Amino acid sequence: MPNEQAVSRAVTEFEALRIPTHIGVIMDGNGRWAKQRGRPRTEGHRQGIVALKRLIRLCDKYGVPYVTVFSFSSENWARPKTEIEFIFNLLHKFVEADLNELHQNNVRVRVLGEREGLDVSLQRTIARVEATTARNTGLKLNVAFNYGGKSEIVEATRSIAADVKAGRIDLADVSEDLIEQRLYTSGMPAPDLLIRTGGDQRISNFLIWQNAYAELVFLDTWWPDFGESDFVEALQIYSARERRFGGLGGAGA
Ligand code: IPE
Ligand code: IPE
Ligand code: MG
Repeated sequence: MPNEQAVSRAVTEFEALRIPTHIGVIMDGNGRWAKQRGRPRTEGHRQGIVALKRLIRLCDKYGVPYVTVFSFSSENWARPKTEIEFIFNLLHKFVEADLNELHQNNVRVRVLGEREGLDVSLQRTIARVEATTARNTGLKLNVAFNYGGKSEIVEATRSIAADVKAGRIDLADVSEDLIEQRLYTSGMPAPDLLIRTGGDQRISNFLIWQNAYAELVFLDTWWPDFGESDFVEALQIYSARERRFGGLGGAGA
């Protein structure tokens, strides 16, 4: 039983945290987690799904409105076919098997990324998950799957160029807002906090437009080990940051 003092300390710390409206997560380090244990990389991906479920519960617990997770990049096609198939099957199973639970927990799921070229049954599952959860008002969970930031911007550019060419919009109306409306994240706030596990300090083509002013937090934890203490650590680092957006912030006051 936790004593009263410990509980009240935990509550105070909880209250001191600034909760981001939108968290992006680059779930990296599955392969190295497995290697360290002498297990196949696929086992790391399997445990990665368990960690993803933990993250979803944590976002709910701490009241984070939006979370976007990077689960397969358009560059990950460079991996061996067997690993790619394993990851695809895992994600397919995750959305199918956990759909009811996500729906019961009022989670709205969107899948961001290129759909064409994906297996037809996977495309159907994605459409079903999005349709089933579309009106849910709880956590907004975005799964970036077969996603690349540069190609997202190329697609947005193409669709705007087509509208300009057809005379539907004026060149003068091309703006940051218009481009944002054509991204997968249309209508959502930009990430405030980007967490990358696995120790590498790079963006790897994840939400490159949307992360323009995100606070970047890099953790050494391998993704399958990610838990509440890592989540809270990232929130604490975020809470201590001063976001200036090009202005002077507190230092200039
Ligand atoms: C992240 O873990 C999952 C995907 C990219 C699909 P990795 O598979 O990249 O694991 P490491 O980086 O090799 O350890
Ligand atoms: C980023 O991890 C993609 C995902 C986590 C899905 P990678 O492992 O693909 O990134 P790099 O290749 O190390 O930059
Ligand atoms: Mg990696």
